[in-house]
Amino acid sequence: MQRPRALSEVSWDQLQAMSLAEKALSFQKNGRLFHVLIAQQFDRRQLEELGATATRVRQIAKSKAGMDFLRAQLSHKTAMLYFTQPSSRTFLSFHSACQMLGMKTVEVRDTATSSEVKGETQEDSVRTFSSFSDVIVMRSAVGGLAEKMAWVLSNAERPVPIVNAGSGKDQHPTQALLDIYTLQRSFERRGGIDRKTIVFVGDLLRGRTVRSLSQLLTKFEGVKQYFIAPEPLQIGKDILDLLRASGSDFEVGADFEKVMPEADAIYMTRIQDEWDEQKGDSRKIDISRFSLAAEHLKRLKPHAVILHPLPRRQEIAVEVDHDPRAVYWRQVRNGMWIRVALLTFIFDCADSIREFHGA
Ligand code: CP
Repeated sequence: MQRPRALSEVSWDQLQAMSLAEKALSFQKNGRLFHVLIAQQFDRRQLEELGATATRVRQIAKSKAGMDFLRAQLSHKTAMLYFTQPSSRTFLSFHSACQMLGMKTVEVRDTATSSEVKGETQEDSVRTFSSFSDVIVMRSAVGGLAEKMAWVLSNAERPVPIVNAGSGKDQHPTQALLDIYTLQRSFERRGGIDRKTIVFVGDLLRGRTVRSLSQLLTKFEGVKQYFIAPEPLQIGKDILDLLRASGSDFEVGADFEKVMPEADAIYMTRIQDEWDEQKGDSRKIDISRFSLAAEHLKRLKPHAVILHPLPRRQEIAVEVDHDPRAVYWRQVRNGMWIRVALLTFIFDCADSIREFHGA
C-alpha cells in the first residue's frame, strides 16, 4: 500500500483531485489526528474512543480535584477561535472546552476588526493567527475554506491544526461528533447505534450537520437513513453517491408522518434561508409537512429520540421540549464534552484522562 501523502507534499490542485478517503489520511500527522476537517476522517474505533473520553471528562469534571486536573492538561496551549459566521453553541462549547482544559483562547468573530479590512487575504490572516496559537478553530460561510487553510498552514514553518467548526454548506464534523455522542448515550442500553433507523427532516440540501452525520452513521452496522424533505431542499446527490458506495441502506422521500413510527431517532433541521440565492426564495416552499408537533409524539416509538442541531424556528413545537424523548438541549451540553475529548485527541492527552479516571 502507498504511504499516505502529507498535506505538505501535495499542491492545492493535487489535494483537490484526491478522494475523500485519501484526504482523510493526509489530514493526519504521524498517523494521528491533526487537522479535523471532514467526517470521513473518523472510523468506528475513534468514535467509540471519543465518546468514552467525553464520558470520562464529564465524570471527572464533577469534582474540584477533577477540574483542577483537567485544567492542568493543556495550560501551555492557546486556541484561536476564528468565527466569521454567526454561532452560539459551537463557539461557546469550544470556548468552554478550551477553558476546561486550561487553554488560553484568542478570538476573531468579525473580519471588520482584523486587518482583512485593509485588504489582507484570509490565507495571510490565518497564517498570522497561527503565530499566536496552537490550534485554530474556524467557522466560515465559505465552503472549503478550512481545508484551504489547513493546506496553507501545513506548508508554513509553524503548522498548527485547523478544526472545522462549520464551513459553508459543506460539512460540520464536530457537530456530527456530538450528535453521535448523543446517540451513543441515548442507545447505551439498547445495543448502541447499530441497526437503528435515523430520519433526517427539513432543509437537507443546505444542512451541513446532516451531510457530516450521514457519513458518520455509515461506520455503524445496519443503520437505515431516511431523508425527508421538500423536493427542492432534498439531500445532495454527492451524499447519496457516498452512501451507495459504502453499501448503506437509505431512502429519500417527503412523507414524514409515514416514517415516524419506524424512527429510532428523528433529526430535525430548520430551513437555512441564509443560503437563498434570492432572499426569500425558500419561503415559497411549502414546509408545513416537515415539522414535529405535540400531536405527533404518540406516533413515535417509546424509546425514539428527537435531535436538532439548533437553532430552531417552528419545525419543533416548544411543547415537544417537555417530552423525555427530546434530547436537543442535551445535545448542546454534549457538544462541550465531545469537544474537550477532541482536543485531548489532537494534543495527545486522552491517555492521561483515562489514567486519572481509572485511578
Ligand atoms: N449547531 C450549531 O452549529 O449551532 P451554532 O450555529 O449556534 O454554533
